[in-house]
Amino acid sequence: MAQLEFDGCKTLELAREYGTPLYVVSEAMIRQRLQTLNRDFMKKYPGSLALFASKALLTLDICKIVASEGLGLDVVTGGELYTAIKAGFPMERVYFHGNNKSEEELIMALDHRVGRIVVDNQYELELLNELAIQRGMRAPIMFRITPGVDSHTHKHITTGQIDSKFGMPLHTESKQVFMGAAMTMEGIDCWGFHFHVGSQLHTNESHRKATEILLNLVKEVKQDYGFETRELNLGGGYGVRYNENDDPKPLHYFTDALMADVEKLCGNLGLQMPKIVIEPGRWVVAEAGITLYTLGAKKVIPGVRTYISVDGGMPDNPRPSLYDARYEAVVANRPDDPANELVTIAGKCCETGDILIKDISLQAPKPGDILAVYTTGAYNHSMASNYNRLPRPAMVLVNKGTHRLSVRRETYEDLLAREVLG
Ligand SMILES: Cc1ncc(COP(=O)(O)O)c(C=O)c1O
Repeated sequence: MAQLEFDGCKTLELAREYGTPLYVVSEAMIRQRLQTLNRDFMKKYPGSLALFASKALLTLDICKIVASEGLGLDVVTGGELYTAIKAGFPMERVYFHGNNKSEEELIMALDHRVGRIVVDNQYELELLNELAIQRGMRAPIMFRITPGVDSHTHKHITTGQIDSKFGMPLHTESKQVFMGAAMTMEGIDCWGFHFHVGSQLHTNESHRKATEILLNLVKEVKQDYGFETRELNLGGGYGVRYNENDDPKPLHYFTDALMADVEKLCGNLGLQMPKIVIEPGRWVVAEAGITLYTLGAKKVIPGVRTYISVDGGMPDNPRPSLYDARYEAVVANRPDDPANELVTIAGKCCETGDILIKDISLQAPKPGDILAVYTTGAYNHSMASNYNRLPRPAMVLVNKGTHRLSVRRETYEDLLAREVLG
């Protein structure tokens, strides 16, 4: 291979035509994952629904792709919801999450008739009830609960433990003030419960433990309040391959085990089988993306380390500095050369922590080379910032040898566009 190709496209051509840094996202690979969700989950378990967790990667194009494959969408803010609305995403398949939804966001969700609002706390519940009554409607809700499960992933991406900003813990008082109260509220239509145990998980243990806890809760609320749960959302979190230490499991390893557990537990506990919803984000898009950078300054500190810098870094991929995330990369113009030079890839921000990849063996990288970093489809574009006033990269969608611009590169003018000079 003279140069790296991605989904049938030559990466050097992409870098030349669209510039760097450049997010390159494969529509074909995303569709393949969405189709797997469709086939191995939604069709296999009729009545179930898979949502794409849009926080992982959200653009108008992505909304359209997800909608066309028949999945739903998980959104967390008015901005994510607005994108879905603008893309014409079917609102009945939108689930609105978030631990601090504003009144404005809740009104937006009600007025656009989103499928479910996943209520996180008592304050939100009461506010939503009032807003729904004012509009003469009943808000279709699910309760976000914290099952008290520790998912053994990076502490910034665990969400299911009791000490969490997300959801309500399952002690008696919170069950009464949250669930018990909701079931008698005029503006609230309760559907069921939701948990999300954490992200980038390679075992199904936490999901399974949380599912058992959840079904016992379903039984309890049936006994205590006569509430028949119609729907359970078991979150996302399925892991992907970032580097050689990752051993991702196929989708069905999670979904078949969970469906078998739910069926068995419902049988044992005398419960109706509810509709099951899942919401992976990373699993759908992470491996479908690479980022192309141009290499610049190379600094050899004898006996210490060799740094080589890219024309982006922390603002287009904050994950290494946020979560110590480890990426793999290749020199795209010499991918077949031996990778025998140990370097550290630095970003260009004025921040010591702006290191994209520490200690990676590459193909004798030098200024002007194009570096391709793998598995950047999730939580890169969606987490990008303008730190140090770096314009955010463009995104190109590739599809079996074709390519087209999906998000244009930010300009310096864009950086000033919101400023009101006194
Ligand atoms: C509520 C909820 N659902 C789904 C997801 C998606 O997780 P992942 O991208 O790991 O599948 C997240 C991620 O944080 C989340 O908080």
